[in-house]
Amino acid sequence: MHDNNTVKKQLETIEDPSAQAPLSKTKGVKHVSIDEDGRVNIIIALKKVDDATKNAVKRAIAKIVKLDLGFAGVKVDFEPLEKPKKKPSHAKIIGVASGKGGVGKSSVAANLALSLKRLGKKVALIDADIYGASIPTIFDIDIQPPKANEDEKIIPFSYEGVQLISAEFFMDANKPLMWRGPMLGKLLNHFFEDVDWDEALDFMIIDLPPGTGDVAMDIQKLVPKSEMLIVTTPHPSASHVALKAGLAAKQLDHKIIGVIENMSYLKHGEATLNIFGKDGGKIVAGRLDTDLIAQIPIGQPESGHHSLYGINEPIGVHFLGLANKLIKRYQ
Ligand SMILES: Nc1ncnc2c1ncn2[C@@H]1O[C@H](COP(=O)(O)OP(=O)(O)O)[C@@H](O)[C@H]1O
Ligand SMILES: [Mg+2]
Repeated sequence: MHDNNTVKKQLETIEDPSAQAPLSKTKGVKHVSIDEDGRVNIIIALKKVDDATKNAVKRAIAKIVKLDLGFAGVKVDFEPLEKPKKKPSHAKIIGVASGKGGVGKSSVAANLALSLKRLGKKVALIDADIYGASIPTIFDIDIQPPKANEDEKIIPFSYEGVQLISAEFFMDANKPLMWRGPMLGKLLNHFFEDVDWDEALDFMIIDLPPGTGDVAMDIQKLVPKSEMLIVTTPHPSASHVALKAGLAAKQLDHKIIGVIENMSYLKHGEATLNIFGKDGGKIVAGRLDTDLIAQIPIGQPESGHHSLYGINEPIGVHFLGLANKLIKRYQ
């Protein structure tokens, strides 16, 4: 009599018509056992468990098990093939928070992601700002729903090799803002589970919505291992709220990587102008017991792009320095 393994090998030559691939490739032969009275019990996973697919596979099984191998009977159960879980499990997840909008949180997240990529890392950027998603604008992506691949995973957008996904593609534009808050958790979950991320991602940068305690709580629940960057301007009105966001994150045991002071100063010839005041970043870092890890000056990209800075211009170099610090941190 043939043993389980021989039967399994033979079954694996059968084609799953719904996957257009043999069961050996889909790993669809889930179980084979042989009763004492010579009946074979089989569990087969199919990409689509519909009648046409089941019948085709059943016929192929009966031929192999009964005719070719000479067993007395066969019982087949079907189940759906589990979607391959592709998860970038080694990626460092970094949330970028500011508490308040308009301080350059998205610009920092975008330029940081791009700089990490320019330094050779595999990077994803998640735009989770449900109130004012701006990553599509920054990267000049048309607002159109992303496509899905054959595993029904969402194909992220790509910009210079940075994988991108935005809340903007999934939000009903007519939905009142106050209904959006409770969706953050679900949306993040969707982003983590259903997007076809590169498995070998080194970094996932999340542009978080403004907000303090509630946002920190959603993040804590979904990505307890994420760490935070806090963005502020030197101005007290921004640093005050950034501090709150930082304290909320800290209370929930999120590691704070450091504070980034954006729009720190303006270089004008030899002079350094403190347009938005001074020391906001230093004060927030001090209160959060962390470091002020970057001070990004005010300036328009020279490259002509509206938000992304090139590697040969001073602000681009600031961002490369910041990216380098992060890479070193995790080495
Ligand atoms: N360092 C900077 N110098 C000049 N403009 C900046 C700088 N950082 C951000 N901006 C501009 O400020 C505006 C708000 O930035 P954004 O990143 O959208 O803020 P947030 O995400 O915090 O709401 C944008 O128009 C952006 O281009
Ligand atoms: Mg933003």
